[in-house]
Amino acid sequence: MTKHRTLDGYVGYSMTTERELEAILARIPTRGYVLEIGTHHGASVAYWAARRPTAVFVSVDRTTNTSNWQRNRRANMALLVGDSSLVLPVLRPALFDLVFVDAGHNYLDCTFDLQGAVDLLAPDGVFAVHDYGAPKYPGVKTATGRFCEAAKFVVVEQVDWTAFLRRAV
Ligand SMILES: C[S@@+](CC[C@H](N)C(=O)[O-])C[C@H]1O[C@@H](n2cnc3c(N)ncnc32)[C@H](O)[C@@H]1O
Repeated sequence: MTKHRTLDGYVGYSMTTERELEAILARIPTRGYVLEIGTHHGASVAYWAARRPTAVFVSVDRTTNTSNWQRNRRANMALLVGDSSLVLPVLRPALFDLVFVDAGHNYLDCTFDLQGAVDLLAPDGVFAVHDYGAPKYPGVKTATGRFCEAAKFVVVEQVDWTAFLRRAV
């Protein structure tokens, strides 16, 4: 199960395992664009942003308690505060190389976020869906499976509780 984990040099905590953090980092192009839906303290995204200083990281979160996020912030990070249902429709289509889905963990929220972000993904972009298969969040796996079937995506890899999805060829 995903645990709250502190990362050296960052405040608050990351919800990812070390393997997840590195597997996602490996899929971020040097000059890529990353969208994180659900960022909380921003420790995970700040870790990636530090290691990909020429990539751009946009996070969305509805919480207004953003003080830890601001403390973790790097120059190549931006935060849009609001519900994903409001924010995703105003982002530029086909811009993002990687979309990390980690906001609402029930079936409907996860479905809305996948559907709301699918047009934001670059043609060869990848979704990273967090808590896929985690016993506490069965809705995430169900939502992902149904989304893949309907939108013609496939799960290409799973690292701990993160599933990576690509468009089926
Ligand atoms: C699991 S935490 C994100 C963890 C973070 N990605 C990390 O790696 O540490 C989930 C976050 O999603 C946010 N959230 C939940 N539902 C949301 C929604 N519909 N729109 C925007 N943010 C949402 C919560 O406020 C919370 O901060």
